[in-house]
Amino acid sequence: CGIVGYIGKYDTCKILLDGLKELEYRGYDSAGIAVLNQKNGIDVFKAVGKLVNLEEKVNKSKKENYNLGIGHTRWATHGKPTEVNAHPHLGEYSYVVHNGIIENYKELKDELISLGHKFVSQTDTEVIVHLFEHYNNKLKDAKKSFKETIKRLEGAFAILLITKDEPEKIYFYKLGSPMIVGKGIEPDEVLFASSDSALIGLSSDVVYLDDRVGGVASKENIEFFSDEVTWSKLPTSKQYAQKEGYRFFMEKEIYEQSIVVSDCMLGRIKDSEINFDEIDPSILDGINEIKICACGTSYHAGLTSSYLFERLSKIKCSIEVASEFRYKEPLLTTDTLFIVISQSGETADTLEALKMAKSAGLKTLVICNVDNSSMTRVADYTILTRAGIEKGVASTKAFSTQTVVLWMLSLYFAKQRNTISSSKLQEEINTLREVPLALKVYENIHEKAKRLSKRYLHGHGFFFIGRDVFYPLALEGALKLKEISYLHAEGYPAGEMKHGPIALADPELFTIALMPKNMLYDKIKSNVEELSARDSTICAISSQDFELADDFIKINDANHYMLEFFEMLIALQLLSMEISIRLKNDVDMPRNLAKSVTVE
Ligand code: G6P
Repeated sequence: CGIVGYIGKYDTCKILLDGLKELEYRGYDSAGIAVLNQKNGIDVFKAVGKLVNLEEKVNKSKKENYNLGIGHTRWATHGKPTEVNAHPHLGEYSYVVHNGIIENYKELKDELISLGHKFVSQTDTEVIVHLFEHYNNKLKDAKKSFKETIKRLEGAFAILLITKDEPEKIYFYKLGSPMIVGKGIEPDEVLFASSDSALIGLSSDVVYLDDRVGGVASKENIEFFSDEVTWSKLPTSKQYAQKEGYRFFMEKEIYEQSIVVSDCMLGRIKDSEINFDEIDPSILDGINEIKICACGTSYHAGLTSSYLFERLSKIKCSIEVASEFRYKEPLLTTDTLFIVISQSGETADTLEALKMAKSAGLKTLVICNVDNSSMTRVADYTILTRAGIEKGVASTKAFSTQTVVLWMLSLYFAKQRNTISSSKLQEEINTLREVPLALKVYENIHEKAKRLSKRYLHGHGFFFIGRDVFYPLALEGALKLKEISYLHAEGYPAGEMKHGPIALADPELFTIALMPKNMLYDKIKSNVEELSARDSTICAISSQDFELADDFIKINDANHYMLEFFEMLIALQLLSMEISIRLKNDVDMPRNLAKSVTVE
């Protein structure tokens, strides 16, 4: 979810809505704002679905000059995405927006109901505002009551609260979920947001709140409940992503990969060397293994790299999904380099895994696309992927740049550890230089994906299969399809199909086979033959003709498996996008998802 807040004399509704637009990637099930006018009246607007619905509602009925407000765009956790469950949530005279999860809401709700409070929504958030009013009715002191409220809450939360009792103030608190408070560029203005992208251009001095920091703001003053906060400067002008003639951001981002991957390599590949200015060359001192944590697409980039770290840098490497890692009581030893991978730098599970590793004394590195995000502020080292703003919820260019960074890193480590000959290193570097070409979208491939998409709108499931790094690529291909087509798809190691899944084979089972010439071609070929013999429909992606394929996407011939990897990536991304378009789905904002998931 995303939250915004504003105190000031300008068009409060517009500022809140513009801020929410910047945060819509964090959730778009429903949205709402609560705005206060000078006569101490509060107006609340809520709408289900994308932000445009709320915008229409507000523009139709707004009448007052408001001087303060809070807003929220939701990714539902507790309770369906209905108007009642949309934030802000109200008590008798106070309103709250919240990002995160209140884990003990059930106990608190029961307690408050027994005290006579009436709840209208199914959300966990509503307890905050009732708890606040419960204390405030007794204490008649909003600040004390807000602090008492916070003390009772368990979980992760960023909160903004307003109350008619103190109509000129916004109360705020942060634990786990991100929040930034800024002074307006104009005097007497205060702004809040979950991400600095919503503040750029409006605020130049901001505090990225640390965990357990809260306070109260009015136009004259921002009071923090803790002694020390650090003010930072924000850039004054904003970068906007535009579709630039493409039908969807995802399409534009697929086409852009060839360019952004060059930016990603810029200055990092020098003649016959890989160079990362942002990490200390002694980073591997005392390190015997690498542990990687990530979620979603970033996890697939990590899994790909686990093959490369072992193969090239000869260093033990394991990877885990962050949400699993957190609670398994992992054995952490300080001879491990801990790497997290995240497009946004905000994913709650990955962030928490990073904090765990850091507090266990491990060296930490984040590979991230968003500078100044929460993870970059926690990790010892940051390598930015330089993919530019990624708007499509289904990640594309973030994945290709992450993979290239990790591949370069495995070579950088290989050189340091003396596990690669200089001729092999030179070969790999020469291949890296060809990646922009491998990521180019050729018209014939796009046309083929468009034509094929017609044939894959039904069936009882897809298996994407591959071996070695083409296994994580298969996982990524399946994830792309699931995310935007809502069809059931699985990624599977090709050699493992015979141990169960092959039982599903029939003509309505679609196998998308990743068949690279340069990596275990004969092995994967046998696996596909086994499926074909059992009547599965085969769509092969390869540079080599394959007579058993029912459908075929022919990629360019290449002499390195990683080039085939990127060629196939493009084909997979285009295929899912074209299927999604045919199914008339929202390609950029698929149902039920969010670009950045800041709850665990
Ligand atoms: C969400 C997105 C995925 C993304 C994952 C991890 O689930 O929908 O596309 O891969 O989060 O995000 P991160 O920003 O940490 O890479």
